[in-house]
Amino acid sequence: MATKEPKNSPAGAAQAAAPADEPVVRLRGVGKLYGNVRALEGIDLAVRPGRVTCVLGDNGAGKSTLIKIISGLHQHDEGEYLVDDKPVRLNNPRDALSLGIATVYQDLATVPLLPVWRNFFLGSELTRSPWPGASWTSSG
Ligand SMILES: Nc1ncnc2c1ncn2[C@@H]1O[C@H](COP(=O)(O)OP(=O)(O)OP(=O)(O)O)[C@@H](O)[C@H]1O
Ligand SMILES: [Mg+2]
Repeated sequence: MATKEPKNSPAGAAQAAAPADEPVVRLRGVGKLYGNVRALEGIDLAVRPGRVTCVLGDNGAGKSTLIKIISGLHQHDEGEYLVDDKPVRLNNPRDALSLGIATVYQDLATVPLLPVWRNFFLGSELTRSPWPGASWTSSG
């Protein structure tokens, strides 16, 4: 007998949620060389929506290089970088931002006097009201 899972059952919910669990950022075999120094080799990574993805490694393992590639500051020399399943080559952090990839650095690039949320939006502050005719004032 054929059965059909109702949409609101756990199994049905898992099926319905499957596409939303597809990686939004994916690296396949990514490598990076700084002249003769190999910083990264054969890096595979899948960043899925709604999850925290951590990168751990020894000093000099290539963590910063990896983040710089994802955030468009540096470019990979080998492998593929995909956003929403499409291969991309980001030329600068602005390209990354336009795809929804923002980077918050641990030091120096943050403004201590501003609240955390404003540091997140540094350089991307709203300058116009999202509603036509309404004036926009910044607070916070
Ligand atoms: N601009 C650069 N020019 C040359 N070599 C570099 C450059 N940036 C990083 N490297 C080298 O690439 C390798 C990876 O460095 P990276 O800074 O990405 O590692 P990390 O995991 O972030 O290290 P740490 O834990 O010390 O922050 C190291 O051997 C480093 O010396
Ligand atoms: Mg580092």
